[in-house]
Amino acid sequence: MKKVILTGDRPTGKLHLGHLASSLRLRLKYQIEADYDEMYVFSADMQGLTDNAKTPEKIKENVFEVIKDNLSIGLDPNKITFFVQSGIPELNELTMYYLNLVTLSRLKRNPTIKEEIKQRGFEESIPVGFLTYPISQAADITAFDANIIPVGDDQIPILEQVCEIVDTFNNTYGEALVRPKYVIPENKSSRRLPGTDGKAKMSKSAGNCIYLTDDTETVRKKVMGMYTDPNHIKIEDPGNTKDNPVFIYLDAFCKDRDKYEELKSHYEQGGLGDKAVKEYLFEVLEEMLTPIREKRAYYDTHPEIVEEIIKDGTKKAREKASEVLSRVRKQIGVEYFN
Ligand code: TRP
Repeated sequence: MKKVILTGDRPTGKLHLGHLASSLRLRLKYQIEADYDEMYVFSADMQGLTDNAKTPEKIKENVFEVIKDNLSIGLDPNKITFFVQSGIPELNELTMYYLNLVTLSRLKRNPTIKEEIKQRGFEESIPVGFLTYPISQAADITAFDANIIPVGDDQIPILEQVCEIVDTFNNTYGEALVRPKYVIPENKSSRRLPGTDGKAKMSKSAGNCIYLTDDTETVRKKVMGMYTDPNHIKIEDPGNTKDNPVFIYLDAFCKDRDKYEELKSHYEQGGLGDKAVKEYLFEVLEEMLTPIREKRAYYDTHPEIVEEIIKDGTKKAREKASEVLSRVRKQIGVEYFN
């Protein structure tokens, strides 16, 4: 079977280290290892609108920005099809057919949706589009026969629901859809990076992110202000590295594994100060972010290139999606004229 990799980002803000550690780096890995037949990366603007309906300017501002974030880490527009979700109306028709295959109670039980409803204070008034985004995500994936979906671990329940929709479709109408598999990073720390404040997740709304576009001074300030082990008061005190975001980031990003292990055991024994560890983390991040900033600067000064990449990609993606849509219509029997 063909290896079709697909993943998307909601354009609700610029991408940060949490995205880089999980889904973005996996994309790069597939590209570098040339381990795919087709790869698609898209800006999920319609999904972004499901909880930003009243602030569409926020989405508009970020639609190209998230693609630029993807390009800046080294994803190659000659190898990957970049597109905008709203440029593929076929996705909405697929969503209409899939809506009938899912119950309201199943949607409400989705742990990610539940958590996100709480975070957004939507309990009393959930936008229908938001509640049903796993269904439109099934359309995003199946429209390209995608079978490998690199994500952060918060997306696992969504992907499980997508698989259920695929199974229900195939059982009801006959095999027509490809069943996807999610992939998450092997390194646990990379699956869901905590915020600089130690909170469970890096998120824009919590204000605890380091962005791919942050400059050196901003990164330094954020790293130096990071939460660490609050009981590590004197340098001699033994420190906790487990719930300590500084060490979690090092685990996710430090290439020199011996050095990482050495710092970790030194900190746990006592005698290693937070400032020294943060200095080192800052160096590690700078080394990683410098080439990303350079590529980003190129695309920032060549907006016409970015636009062309996305425009061409959207056209190509639409051709593929309409093939799959025809197959789906045929399978259901929504085909009345010759
Ligand atoms: N839900 C994903 C996120 O919030 C974005 C997304 C939309 C997506 N459609 C997708 C990811 C399809 C993978 C596949 O990050």
